[in-house]
Amino acid sequence: MVTRRVDLRSDTVTKPTETMRAAMANAEVDDDVLGYDPTAACLEREMAKIMGKEAALFVPSGTMANLICVLTHCQIRGSEVILGDYSHIHIYENGGISTLGGVHPRTVKNNEDGTMDIDRIEESIRDPSFEICYPTTRLICLENSHAHSGGRCLSAEYTDKVGELAKKYGLKLHIDGARIFNASVALGVPVHRLVQAADSVTACLSKGLGAPAGTVIAGSKAFISKAKVLRKTLGGGMRQVGVLCAAAIIAVEENVGKLEGDHRKAKILAAGINNIKGMKVDLDSVETNIVYFDILKESGTTEDELLKKLEVHGVLAMPEGPCKIRLVLHHQISEHDVQYTISCIQKIVTGAPDKNGVN
Ligand SMILES: Cc1ncc(COP(=O)(O)O)c(C=O)c1O
Repeated sequence: MVTRRVDLRSDTVTKPTETMRAAMANAEVDDDVLGYDPTAACLEREMAKIMGKEAALFVPSGTMANLICVLTHCQIRGSEVILGDYSHIHIYENGGISTLGGVHPRTVKNNEDGTMDIDRIEESIRDPSFEICYPTTRLICLENSHAHSGGRCLSAEYTDKVGELAKKYGLKLHIDGARIFNASVALGVPVHRLVQAADSVTACLSKGLGAPAGTVIAGSKAFISKAKVLRKTLGGGMRQVGVLCAAAIIAVEENVGKLEGDHRKAKILAAGINNIKGMKVDLDSVETNIVYFDILKESGTTEDELLKKLEVHGVLAMPEGPCKIRLVLHHQISEHDVQYTISCIQKIVTGAPDKNGVN
């Protein structure tokens, strides 16, 4: 019987730490929809400071945060947003910006590093003189780090260029910063600098930072006031939410410092898997806490088979399309877990039984 569990499905699987649980138990709370919860206010003040914006707002999830931001920037139905063809907003958020907000997506190809070519973004901006046929471009969205490209980071310089383009055409810039702290740590650039050019930015607290729930939106005071109304409309106004915000405050205080270790372990994991015959990792793509690897024909296994066998060993991972698997590091994965995972994959591929007789 394998009792060990190494959960690499996502950085959203962490368990609240003892300090978080204590903070939640002792949190001072009040009605946050009425604006009286002191712990929510404290988290929002702190996050606004970190992100270099006037104000911030705690919302239940990253998906709702992106939806609120896009809809707040695009209040007129038929607005168009330019975003990456492999952006989380476009692929994984149920098309909410269209179904709920009447916002039309105009996709631009995401390059392997998560950027979109600036020329292509510019070409995609609609000519207002032909509004008889065209939707009106109002917003550009970036994602940093870019999940689908393996958690790669957009530089401050690239983001500034997109910001300049947005300004030139009177558009707004939103950054889906679900993992902006990972990008900040990997690049060695403070979060506020990375998002300086953005009119709005989101940061998830329940991913690499390990809080049990929540995302924060940051922007100008006027933007956040409008976002607050939309949060209520969407059912995201929560009453004594300080219980969750207390854990999030601990996550920001204690776990940002652990991200560097996650990135280091991701690189070790990637290199170890890449050394196994029949497995391939693009090592240059591993900049933060996400590792994608390809299963080559010569391995004699498939993603389904490998995932099932890994699960028998207590290692959990996610498929990412045919012959591709995704592993995500977080602060509750140790170096020993990383070595164990590499050795499990090795054993499965070579067919050598481990000490439990499992292969
Ligand atoms: C880049 C990115 N943006 C947004 C989200 C949505 O966050 P949530 O799962 O909290 O809705 C995710 C979730 O994995 C993500 O990876």
